[in-house]
Amino acid sequence: MTPHRLLILNGPNLNMLGVREKGIYGTATLQTIEASCQEKAKALGVVVAFRQSNHEGELVTWIQQAMGQQDFIIINPAAYTHTSVAIRDALLAVGLPVIEVHLSNIHRREPFRHHSYVSDIAVGVIAGFGQQGYLAAMDLACHHLATLHSS
Ligand code: DQA
Repeated sequence: MTPHRLLILNGPNLNMLGVREKGIYGTATLQTIEASCQEKAKALGVVVAFRQSNHEGELVTWIQQAMGQQDFIIINPAAYTHTSVAIRDALLAVGLPVIEVHLSNIHRREPFRHHSYVSDIAVGVIAGFGQQGYLAAMDLACHHLATLHSS
């Protein structure tokens, strides 16, 4: 059987992890998180493409390109979570299952972070567990894909 393909997308300012607001986002860099995800991918027997962009259009393009190339999208849209109809529409257009991840618990933060344009079209949302959220999302994505393929 061909291995499941997971696309992990990261939005703006996540390239600043390790430097930016460490009290909220922790000290792990995005490179560290990617390394953990690639290690986990080996353990799960899946293929992971891990990307970050500060540009909404680039994220939209990557989502569009995932059609037929990826089986699942794990996305931390960062600030675009709260603003981007374009990212929501791209996710709806490709129709792949999605898990939304946030390092921080957005519901414990400012009211403008409580609304997400992605949550209601996602399989589920993980928020508040730092980099562990990405690893949990990978487990859950594999579980979801296994359930889809067995039914
Ligand atoms: C974030 C939460 C967003 O509100 C914020 O704009 C981010 C990161 C998180 O991972 O906790 O940049 O998505």
